Amino acid sequence: MSSAPPAISALAAPPAPIEPTNVQPADEAAIARAVELLRAGELVAFPTETVYGLGADAGNPEAVARIFALKGRPETHPVIVHLADAAQLEAWAREIPAGARRLAAAFWPGPLTLVLKRSVSVPDAVTGGQDTVGLRVPSHPAARTLLEAYGAGIAAPSANKFGRVSPTTAMHVFADFGLAVPLVLDGGACPVGIESTIVDLSGERPRCLRPGGVPLVAIEEALGEAVGMPDAQAPRAPGTHASHYAPRAQVKLVRRVEMLEALASHKGRRIGALALEVSVPRLAQHLQRVVPVVPGPYAHDLYAHLRALDAQNVDVILVEAPPKTPAWSAINDRLARAARHAAEGETT
Ligand code: TXA
Ligand code: MG
Repeated sequence: MSSAPPAISALAAPPAPIEPTNVQPADEAAIARAVELLRAGELVAFPTETVYGLGADAGNPEAVARIFALKGRPETHPVIVHLADAAQLEAWAREIPAGARRLAAAFWPGPLTLVLKRSVSVPDAVTGGQDTVGLRVPSHPAARTLLEAYGAGIAAPSANKFGRVSPTTAMHVFADFGLAVPLVLDGGACPVGIESTIVDLSGERPRCLRPGGVPLVAIEEALGEAVGMPDAQAPRAPGTHASHYAPRAQVKLVRRVEMLEALASHKGRRIGALALEVSVPRLAQHLQRVVPVVPGPYAHDLYAHLRALDAQNVDVILVEAPPKTPAWSAINDRLARAARHAAEGETT
């Protein structure tokens, strides 16, 4: 027989375990509960094909205010309104140009957000006080079922603390908010993994405010015209600046040779790496993620890798720069922001 167990008082107090009791599979019962919560002005996190969203009734300013409070997000930042289908556009936008109809027909449901002139009934809480509204019809089955059951617009930014990496699993949402969100619908890992492409059609020329899940070339093809980049007249798209999409660790975008040099020069700091296809010599296996040089799978896992390395308390994440071709533009956009965030020493 083994010796008697130590007295309880002799044991170090274990950290209080928090069970993710608010994370529920996105089945019929959970979606019915989500609808009840949204109707009561509460928040519900739900999966989309891009990233998880932190949803509130878009027509209820107090509910939308809760999103901002929980995320720690400035109130002037607009949030995207998610709709069940394009037929709901009229309720939210006062002008729907032909280009918007074309893009909706081509890419909805899917990872595209259209910025249009808002209709009068849209609460300021949603638009950040601007004259435009961001609208999107997501394709994830759980999001679609929820939106159809709810029957109204759901305002939802990415379900992360302000300025942090977007969540692509239900447990990422739990990692940021714990039990503060009453319900997190679990629909598995988001198939796209990075946020929607945002196209502004509220001005004279279409403009891309954020590259994302739908490639720009596909948008230009559907529109039959070139899409410009934002200029001084473009609506503000806060949340697209450098302080976003950044893990806690410092991110350094490097070429492979620089990666090895950086490893040598950062002695004493805990280093992690996102390396293309080939592992990094001299770095512990558990601190390196070997990622494919294929945009789809890379995007799918990018945020999960950054979050996992952060959770391993690395000081620096060396990211081997992917190719610069158009297929990689949304990924390069997010990586550049994460790296700039570190270089500027911004905190959020
Ligand atoms: O894929 C996505 O778009 C995800 C999922 C949940 O739908 N949502 C998302 O939301 O990324 P958020 O809030 O994290 O980023 C939305 C971006 C912000 O940069 C915001 O400033 C911009 O969209 N945005 C929203 N409405 C806008 C508007 N009316 N004019 C200009 N930018 C807008
Ligand atoms: Mg976000």
